[in-house]
Amino acid sequence: MRLSPVVSGLGTYPFVRLDDAKRRALERGLELIDFGLGDPREPTPEFIQRALADALPRTSGYPRAPGLPELRQAVARWCRRRFGASIDPEREVIPTYGSKEAIFGLAQVVGGSAGERDVVVVTQPGYPVPERGALVAGARPLALPLREDDAFLPDFDAIADDTWRRVAIVWLNYPNNPTGATAPLELYERAAELARTHDFVLASDEAYSELWFDEPPASALQLADMTNVIVFNTLSKRSSMTGYRSGFAAGDAALIAALRAFRPNAGTVPQEFVQHASVAAWDDEEHVERTRESYARKRELLLDVLMRRGIRVAGGSATMYLWVETPGGESSEAFAERLLEHGIVVSPGSYFGEAGEGYVRVALVPTLDECRRAVAILEDVL
Ligand SMILES: Cc1ncc(COP(=O)(O)O)c(C=O)c1O
Repeated sequence: MRLSPVVSGLGTYPFVRLDDAKRRALERGLELIDFGLGDPREPTPEFIQRALADALPRTSGYPRAPGLPELRQAVARWCRRRFGASIDPEREVIPTYGSKEAIFGLAQVVGGSAGERDVVVVTQPGYPVPERGALVAGARPLALPLREDDAFLPDFDAIADDTWRRVAIVWLNYPNNPTGATAPLELYERAAELARTHDFVLASDEAYSELWFDEPPASALQLADMTNVIVFNTLSKRSSMTGYRSGFAAGDAALIAALRAFRPNAGTVPQEFVQHASVAAWDDEEHVERTRESYARKRELLLDVLMRRGIRVAGGSATMYLWVETPGGESSEAFAERLLEHGIVVSPGSYFGEAGEGYVRVALVPTLDECRRAVAILEDVL
């Protein structure tokens, strides 16, 4: 059997490697506290579970790509409440199956053939999915480094005019995974202006927009002109609903129309009972405040021990992640392995691309009790 060379060339998804390392540690009898994967272990609020159960039908047909009107309306209400954005629920929003598949698939919808409009700009260190999606779509990823000295913001001036002519998509992700950095509205304004000048799509992945600890971060949804702009958001982190698979894309009506036309091919849309639960989730902010408080408590515990042990937290103050400098120039994999020997799982920065070397990512997903246990271990190890 001949596999697609693109698929063979992708290599193992980084977090599958982490799972393998964890499995080997467990086989050696280690008890693990897992700060690796960014999969919230907060319980999904009960009213959301109930909304799902209440919506379970006796017969359940195929959900349609445009989604339920009530979900699109709930998303539009949320965009207005949260960002003052006016999104037309008929033309400017579409539900997605979580946001990962839609982020992965965008390069199949936007862009040209090899040699023209075949460049997808991603930021590094970063969530690997936009880059891998670009590769599978036959596009050429171009990584813009996010440097600590630039507050983990990309330098668009590093891209030459010749290259801009070939760019199909620029991906931004703020609050940023893995650095925790946030972006000012001016970054979106500049990027959107470039998108219209050079006729590419600005895609803003805002999966962590609700996990902030000082002030609410800006969103591309606050742009006065959304032409050539699309925003992805999700209930996964905001409402601790990763397993439900429910997100949305919103923005330029022409892009949303293209997604409406494209998405029935793969049939990726949340089940209707999940869509009903999602209406309940988007309409409530109280549980989101509680979720932020829960992450804030864990964050304080970890920040405190890292500071006392002289370990520098290099990243920003949003998301569920701490972006931590490895001590004494140790490589990110070596430091992660050393912590794993003591039962603490973190992600090596190199998993997020070369620019992530020298850091590890700590996902604040274990329970508060587990975090307390981890603090005691770190007091000894660091
Ligand atoms: C930056 C970023 N974007 C998008 C996602 C996708 O989340 P989901 O598919 O659960 O909506 C994740 C998940 O970890 C992420 O880290």
